[in-house]
Formats: sequence, C-alpha cells, structure tokens
Amino acid sequence: MTPELMEQNARHLDAYRAAHPPKTGNTESGGRTAAFSRLTIPGEVDTTHGRILYLEDVSVSFDGFKAINQLSLDIAPGELRCIIGPNGAGKTTMMDIITGKTRPDAGRVFFGSTIDLLRYKEADIAQMGIGRKFQKPTVFEQLTVFENLELALKTNKAVTQSMLFKLDSTQSDRLAEVLHTIHLSESVSRQAGFLSHGQKQWLEIGMLLMQDPKLLLLDEPVAGMTDEETERTAELFLSLKGKHSLMVVEHDMSFINTISDIVTVLCDGSVLAQGTLAQVQADERVIEVYLGR
Ligand SMILES: Nc1ncnc2c1ncn2[C@@H]1O[C@H](COP(=O)(O)OP(=O)(O)O)[C@@H](O)[C@H]1O
Ligand SMILES: [Mg+2]
Repeated sequence: MTPELMEQNARHLDAYRAAHPPKTGNTESGGRTAAFSRLTIPGEVDTTHGRILYLEDVSVSFDGFKAINQLSLDIAPGELRCIIGPNGAGKTTMMDIITGKTRPDAGRVFFGSTIDLLRYKEADIAQMGIGRKFQKPTVFEQLTVFENLELALKTNKAVTQSMLFKLDSTQSDRLAEVLHTIHLSESVSRQAGFLSHGQKQWLEIGMLLMQDPKLLLLDEPVAGMTDEETERTAELFLSLKGKHSLMVVEHDMSFINTISDIVTVLCDGSVLAQGTLAQVQADERVIEVYLGR
C-alpha cells in the first residue's frame, strides 16, 4: 500500500460507511427475513460457497494486446495460492484488476459470493479487506517501525491527525502481535529507513496486517531478499495461512516449494496449468513456456 492510497482510504472510509449502511439480507418472500438470511454487513465477505475470490472469463486489452485473456480462477478462504509464470504473463495485471486499479473489458470478479468488485473503486476495495503488497517496499522511511504500524491502523482519521491519535489497548495488543509476526519486535524504535530490504518488506506486510485484511495479494515479495530473509518470509506466510487468504506471485521456486499447496501457472493472460508444484513442474507445456528444459 502506498502512502497516497492509505490517506485516500482513510478519506473514503466515512463515505463508504455512509453509502453502505448495515442491512439484513432479505429473501424474495416479500421482504420477510427467512431462516436462511444472513447479516450482510459491509466489509463482511460471504464465503459460504467456499470461495473468497472468484474470477470468471476476465479479459483486458492494452492497445489491442490481450494482457488478460478469459482468465478464470478462484481461491478458497484461508488458502495460500501461489502464482507463477513468465514475465508478461499478466500476473501483476491480474492483481491490478482484483484491486480495482485496472478495469477489465469483460468478465466477473467477486469477493466472496456477494461482492462484485468491478463495482468498486480501488480505495473501497482496500477498505473491504483486500490488501496489496507491491514489489518495491513503500514504508515511511523517516518514521519508526512503531509509527509506521500505528499509521496503518484502520482509522477514519486523515494521516496527519492519526499520527496524534492514541492507540487503545486492543490496538496496542494488535500492534505488538504484528511486530512479533513480522520479526521486528526488537526494531520497534528504529527508523524504517535504516532497516534492511527484507525488513522493510516485512514492515510493509505488517502495515497491511494492521488492517486485518481478509485477502492479501503479494507481488514478488522475496525478490532481492537474502536466503535467510527468504526463509523467514516463507515462515511468515505459512503462519498467515488460514487466518488470511493469500495470493503470492513469485519466481523463486524453492520459496514456492516451501509455501505452496496449489500453484497456478499463468501464461498469455490465462491459466496454463494448476496443481501441486510437482504436478505443474512435470507439465510439458509449463516446461516449454516457463521452466525451460
Ligand atoms: N498499463 C498498461 N499499459 C499497457 N500495457 C500493459 C499495462 N500493464 C501491463 N501491460 C502489458 O501487459 C502484459 C502483462 O504484464 P504484467 O501483468 O505486468 O505481467 P507479469 O506481471 O506477469 O510479468 C505485458 O505485456 C505488459 O507490457
Ligand atoms: Mg509482474
């Protein structure tokens, strides 16, 4: 999440809440509340159909070039899905579409079974609980680790105001928990600019975690990390699995091997293969376009 986007989110939150008051899901039985009705709370994702993210026949072209081509893909709640594929396959563009940065020309994109993501703006989507980590770390270099995490708390205050606001005990507990998760408890007072590349990446993941996202999209999170940092990141992701749903784009095969259950191979904007890493690595088409012989 970029600082601009974070500030934008804070501003959008009030508007979003005002526009989406909590309501009970009415059935077709004359508006009466039936036994099966669920509370549909804004931000609550309905995963009763077993899917937190659902893409169907999504396509987008840039100047006639189909970057995403009838892409269909879904992810289960708590799943850690790995996405691999050659450069230009459309991995980042797919994340742009899910997060509302890019509008597809066709297709459906759902968060749970009820939230049509194509109807929402980027800031609203972040607010609903889809966190995104871009490849380059974007932390506030002049602020401490603590201040960065504090700033990332879900709050409807503008960034400048929220620097003055005081954490309540639940928020302090959450901050301590996140610090521990991202292995930065001992660096809490350090200025973020002095952290290593890997630590900055963890801090940014921590900033996303402060907002307790339901779905986390991570684009090449271990690029540029040392082997030790990469191993720690694998542990971190495994610890997040189950509590959050994750979509991880990576090229580092040993990292993928450590963390993956299901691997999806993207190529030319659609799914070329899917299965365990061993299965996709044995797939002739995958070897041809990506892994090489
Ligand atoms: N905003 C854009 N305008 C034009 N072309 C784009 C844009 N975004 C991505 N592309 C093109 O779409 C293709 C897929 O890119 P990308 O999603 O970045 O692939 P990956 O992340 O898998 O390497 C590439 O050919 C890229 O040049
Ligand atoms: Mg990319």
